[in-house]
Amino acid sequence: MSKLQRFTDRADQQVVLQLDKLNKIFNTGTPLQNHVLHDISLQVSRGELVALVGTSGSGKSTLLNVMGLLDVSSSGELRIQGQLVQGMTEQQRTQLRSESIGFVFQFHHLISAFSVLDNVLMPLMLRFGKPSTAQVEYAQYLLGEVGLTQFMHQSTNRLSGGQQQRVAIARALVTRPALVFADEPTGNLDTQTADEVFSLFERFNVEHQCAIVIVTHDPRLSARCPRTIRLTDGRIVYDGASADLPHLFASPL
Ligand SMILES: Nc1ncnc2c1ncn2[C@@H]1O[C@H](COP(=O)(O)OP(=O)(O)OP(=O)(O)O)[C@@H](O)[C@H]1O
Ligand SMILES: [Mg+2]
Repeated sequence: MSKLQRFTDRADQQVVLQLDKLNKIFNTGTPLQNHVLHDISLQVSRGELVALVGTSGSGKSTLLNVMGLLDVSSSGELRIQGQLVQGMTEQQRTQLRSESIGFVFQFHHLISAFSVLDNVLMPLMLRFGKPSTAQVEYAQYLLGEVGLTQFMHQSTNRLSGGQQQRVAIARALVTRPALVFADEPTGNLDTQTADEVFSLFERFNVEHQCAIVIVTHDPRLSARCPRTIRLTDGRIVYDGASADLPHLFASPL
């Protein structure tokens, strides 16, 4: 049996993310040309929780940035909720990103000059201006869900690393995105805090049915995702059930 396994599209699943032969080449046509992603094809359906793993430099962040519309591909096709991204204007891409995608990074990028609540509301304020009462209530609900109600009106710089990352998760979810991309969101946290933060992703994944693609170097956490995609030198070398990940690949990342 081929080592390369892929999840096939099932008719009853709603595909929210689809890549067909996607390539990314940095510095095209210069001596620094670097072909980082090679013919990446994959699909993610509504409500999936997917770990993206691979050694340092294998292209995980590059892939996440392209899928999350923070960077553009060099060739191939990317569809977000059925919409073909190639050919869109910058403005259309920005709109699609703000409607459909939430991001969580290793470093939370919170703004300490603003309160915790305003940080969570930021994606809505950027899109709509002053948030509505319903939007503020939803942000408050999310802060409750991540256990931070009592800190709502404080500055973010009085929070611990784990608490700040929980604010970043609430911020990523406040637009009710169909897709959440998280790039090593627990990479900066101790084991117990990482477990707690990861549990929040699991909960939101089930409760809100948002698809989540999470980059992690922690095999304990990737094992908790039903599906794992593994990159080696910018190519998918495994895409399948985390439980079936060949032993060959289970070595430390
Ligand atoms: N803006 C850029 N210009 C040129 N090359 C880049 C750029 N960004 C990333 N690369 C290259 O792309 C390759 C993949 O980098 P990437 O950051 O995607 O890896 P990664 O799998 O996320 O690694 P890590 O686990 O260390 O975060 C590396 O060789 C890197 O040097
Ligand atoms: Mg990276």
